[in-house]
Amino acid sequence: MYYIGVDLGTSSVKLVLMEESGEIKNIVSKEYPLYFPNPGWSEQKPEDWFSQFVEGIRELLEGFDTSKVDGISFGGQMHGLVLLDENDQVLRPAILWNDGRTAKECDYLNHVIGREKISFYTANMALTGFTAPKILWVKEHEPEIFKKIAKIMLPKDYLAYKISGTFCTDVSDASGMLLFDVKNRCWSEEMIEIVGIKREQLATVYESYEVVGTLTKKAADLLNLPQSVKVIAGAGDNAAGAVGTGTLKHGMCSVSLGTSGTVFIATDHFAVDDKNAMHSFDHANGKYHFLGCMLSAASANKWWMDEIIGTKDYAKEQEGIKTLGENNVFFLPYLMGERTPHNNPNARGTFIGMTMDTSRADMTQAVLEGVTFALRDALEIARGFGVTIERVRVNGGGAKSPLWCKMIANIMNVKVDKINSEEGPGFGAAILAAVGCGKFASVEEASEKLIKVVSTVEQTPELVDKYEKKYQIFRQIYPALTDVYDQMSK
Ligand code: XUL
Repeated sequence: MYYIGVDLGTSSVKLVLMEESGEIKNIVSKEYPLYFPNPGWSEQKPEDWFSQFVEGIRELLEGFDTSKVDGISFGGQMHGLVLLDENDQVLRPAILWNDGRTAKECDYLNHVIGREKISFYTANMALTGFTAPKILWVKEHEPEIFKKIAKIMLPKDYLAYKISGTFCTDVSDASGMLLFDVKNRCWSEEMIEIVGIKREQLATVYESYEVVGTLTKKAADLLNLPQSVKVIAGAGDNAAGAVGTGTLKHGMCSVSLGTSGTVFIATDHFAVDDKNAMHSFDHANGKYHFLGCMLSAASANKWWMDEIIGTKDYAKEQEGIKTLGENNVFFLPYLMGERTPHNNPNARGTFIGMTMDTSRADMTQAVLEGVTFALRDALEIARGFGVTIERVRVNGGGAKSPLWCKMIANIMNVKVDKINSEEGPGFGAAILAAVGCGKFASVEEASEKLIKVVSTVEQTPELVDKYEKKYQIFRQIYPALTDVYDQMSK
């Protein structure tokens, strides 16, 4: 049988066709536009996601026996606000996870309602990317739209709704809405009241591996698939990526270098750190995880390559980087503000340390290193509350670069394990589909059977030492600039 995994990303939707043996038979990727209507705002059209998804599925299945497709599931960009009216029409473009417009609403939630209370209800504090502050923003700035809201959805759940007719979400993605009681895996009545919405505007919540329905007749015709194909809830892209890398056992860690950069730590038990420095979310295997998220990771490199130096040949550009650990140019990758660890929508991208002999390769290197230093910031928080992390599994587009993996190993002082699939969330979603269809008894069993470590990048002590010194410099740059960033935002 075949299982389809859909990774609804920020730059594209990636579709994976997996055989029950775990072998990937086909991969298709379809892009869509990202809109920045104001500095720090970030939006996409749910209709674009759906039309590219439909085209992608048709392409994915060309030449394959579609009667063998058993199930489909999703990994999706988290936190995005999708609003539908009573006729299921999209009310406005989706406000995405990296949108920074809700500083005022977060202040209200963290300081007027109070961070401790919010954290007690949801296990997290209000952060600009999360969904609840966006609902408050719409209520304040677009009251006509707010009045018409019939359904509040997350991005991947819009696709699931369109193809199954089930208004659903899963525990891992719901965790990032700030409307969800992460500990008890259900909606928080208190948060529903604080935000001023109604329970029926929110979806039915499933575990990530649960079946939510089958294809509607309309969707089956559109996708050229049998109506019997099961739709499985799926997970937020980080939890799906963790399934796809086999990051399931307590204390295991994965790092993703996608549009965002994340550090994901699987835990068996629910826990919250008292500063809410890391997100505390549900995992796709029925357990929990900690997450640190930086807003511009591979996207910072893409910006530097595509927009500034004007090349599509990233690998060739990286060939010019000869010496590691000695670069005196630093880059702060805060092009969309920053979430972990600074929680500051006003932070901005910054180069510092150039001299007349600084080369293009030094600047490119600074971008890759800056993202990795920023990821280490998240890792240090976890280490700070006693978690030992000696190895990580990587996924996301950036992880395809051997140089970047070497930087992760030496800057974070960890061993970097690469596994048999590079398709993190898409592969994870296909695995969740197979579990939901009963091919495996649990996510753990599927992972043990399907996921293998194929190579490991080890750190070298000399480079770890050199990078340690550089990291200590990097850490001082942001605090020295916070006032400047604030003034620039006025
Ligand atoms: C996680 C987060 C991002 C998005 C990107 O909290 O905001 O990783 O899920 O797709």
